[in-house]
Amino acid sequence: MRERKLKVGVLGCGPIAQAAHFESCTKARNAELYAVCDVADDLRERMAVAHGAEKQFKDYAAMLADPDLDAVIIATSDAFHVAAAKQALEAGKHVLCEKPLGVSVEEVEDLRAVVKKSGKLLQVGHMKRFDAGLQSAKDFITGEMGEMLALKAWYCDSTHRYAMTDAVQPKIIRSAAARKPSVDPKADLERYYMLAHGCHLLDVARYFGGPITSIDAKLRQRFGAYCWFMDVEFASGALGHLDLTVAVRGDWHEGFQIYGQRGSVMGKTYNPWFFKSSDVEIFHENTGSTTRVLGADGHFYRRQLESFADAILNGTPLVGADIEDGIASVRGMVAAARSAKSGKPVALADVSGAV
Ligand SMILES: NC(=O)c1ccc[n+]([C@@H]2O[C@H](COP(=O)([O-])OP(=O)(O)OC[C@H]3O[C@@H](n4cnc5c(N)ncnc54)[C@H](O)[C@@H]3O)[C@@H](O)[C@H]2O)c1
Repeated sequence: MRERKLKVGVLGCGPIAQAAHFESCTKARNAELYAVCDVADDLRERMAVAHGAEKQFKDYAAMLADPDLDAVIIATSDAFHVAAAKQALEAGKHVLCEKPLGVSVEEVEDLRAVVKKSGKLLQVGHMKRFDAGLQSAKDFITGEMGEMLALKAWYCDSTHRYAMTDAVQPKIIRSAAARKPSVDPKADLERYYMLAHGCHLLDVARYFGGPITSIDAKLRQRFGAYCWFMDVEFASGALGHLDLTVAVRGDWHEGFQIYGQRGSVMGKTYNPWFFKSSDVEIFHENTGSTTRVLGADGHFYRRQLESFADAILNGTPLVGADIEDGIASVRGMVAAARSAKSGKPVALADVSGAV
């Protein structure tokens, strides 16, 4: 008997859908690209044909009204995420929403109640949680490491990133008819970099270190580059230091170091578009040896979709970032932004407003 596949509709046929989600849907073992939706006719028609979507919709509400659709992937600008997620949940569809979950504390807090009421699953597209290298570190932390003393993590985009990504991504097709938010997200780079990149760094820190309670951030801006150094307090009492730099004059530079009671971890993460799992070395104090997983399958985007589909189809636990993780990441970004402005530590529980 053939296993049922999750029928997925992708909202948005823009760059992230073209570079990650369409391929993920068509390669996933347990999901299929059932529908695509975009207001831009040229883009939608081309993508529906190129990726073999069964149906295409100009109107999002019409896609959500299709009784055969199980779930949506929200692949639009950040500003549209929460409204699109609410609409889908209220229509009885499961949601995999691109990161960040939203742009303000209030809107993501509101979303929590909608998720709860719907009884549907919401996963945030923090796809690094599906990097086999990071997963090996997580297993070590939960199963063997004991107490965590400290965590350092860094995410430094490269000035050469477009040369790198253009070489490996499919050619991105754009449309003049694409729907964009009223304010260009890139008009304020300080905010844009925090939303686009900071949310990954914060989510990785939380994935390993657990809840973050406060952030003391400093921001330096020179020659067009932005550098945030953030001292973070984990609820566990572990020390944390996060470095978000956009962009370093050099190669993509991302990774982490974790000091634990029964071992330590060092990780080097690649530009995600290389689809290569992180190099993660785990030192086991009890044996005096180091292990490193190969993580041959580096398609984090497909792996996150397969896990999401497993949770829906087979009731396996949701291991991706859930609504609480999405909210915590938004609170973390707001806290970092407020702290960089005020020069004081900011508690995540106290923040309000938008990044
Ligand atoms: N996880 C990652 O590694 C990663 C990488 C890059 C971008 N992203 C995320 O992806 C998102 C941006 O994606 P993008 O650059 O492809 O966005 P985009 O704005 O360029 O494209 C979105 C498309 O959605 C369509 N659209 C928007 N609202 C619609 C609606 N209500 N009905 C129908 N169509 C609608 C637009 O017409 C547009 O074509 C951001 O949230 C970003 O943070 C994630």
